[in-house]
Amino acid sequence: MSDAYSNRGNKDLSLGNAKGQGSVIPKASGESFAAPGGPFLIGEGMTAGYGNGPDILHDCTIAVEQGEIAVIVGPNGAGKSTGMKAVFGMLDMRKGHVRLDGEDITHLSPQDRVAKGMGFVPQTSNIFTSMTVEENLEMGAFIRRDDFKDTMTQVYDLFPILKEKRFQAAGELSGGQRQQVAVGRALMTQPKVLMLDEPTAGVSPIVMDELFDRIIEVARTGIPILMVEQNARQALEIADKGYVLVQGANGYTGTGKELLANPEVRKSFLGG
Ligand SMILES: Nc1ncnc2c1ncn2[C@@H]1O[C@H](COP(=O)(O)OP(=O)(O)OP(=O)(O)O)[C@@H](O)[C@H]1O
Ligand SMILES: [Mg+2]
Repeated sequence: MSDAYSNRGNKDLSLGNAKGQGSVIPKASGESFAAPGGPFLIGEGMTAGYGNGPDILHDCTIAVEQGEIAVIVGPNGAGKSTGMKAVFGMLDMRKGHVRLDGEDITHLSPQDRVAKGMGFVPQTSNIFTSMTVEENLEMGAFIRRDDFKDTMTQVYDLFPILKEKRFQAAGELSGGQRQQVAVGRALMTQPKVLMLDEPTAGVSPIVMDELFDRIIEVARTGIPILMVEQNARQALEIADKGYVLVQGANGYTGTGKELLANPEVRKSFLGG
């Protein structure tokens, strides 16, 4: 765990899969190869676009290691969300691979990726607004056949306000609370890795800080986190690894500290 957030959050390791390692069931057929020792989740050399449209991603690589927080920043329209969607299997990749725990999952559907242990909170439409908070969490557990009550208790421990509001329609909650519902929903599958696209969008600086603390807590339970953030400076402060995407390609890559100290990154993307 890096020094950047070693003193933040609590130290409860019970949520999710400790160390994020678990039973990834090998595929019976198809393209699949093991690459032990690589990052836990990597979208490597991704070239992709929408439908028959032009390439949006150009040989783009994003990854997160076991036990770490990786942050993707960059200007509006840089392809951050597209990169997340490509890693989650929502786009056809024209070139490149996605590997999870050493297994090639490039050709799996998003649903199959969830079954393999990926949790994804998209940038928009990430909750069911007319359903209650609790129903949202139950929907999150849709792939589970076992008893998920303990996980729900853990989500309520992590986000106490959700327990208080569990019978309210999620659409009535504040922006920060809705984001907690979205993250909580993703945690209900007990993911081995969590992908968050702008989890602090539209919230106040205080709420942003609180959400970052909760995200750090989740990371500390052993769930690596790959997240896109528009609050670049604050996000890089808690990042083990950072990616600056520029026009669908890797502009700058380094530790959070390195990127914060890089004069070009500061000038172009962090406001000096
Ligand atoms: N569903 C879509 N169909 C076609 N083009 C799209 C679609 N979604 C995004 N794009 C295009 O892909 C490019 C990258 O968009 P993307 O949403 O990935 O950027 P972003 O870095 O996430 O931006 P933001 O900071 O605004 O969230 C843009 O040119 C956008 O117009
Ligand atoms: Mg986006």
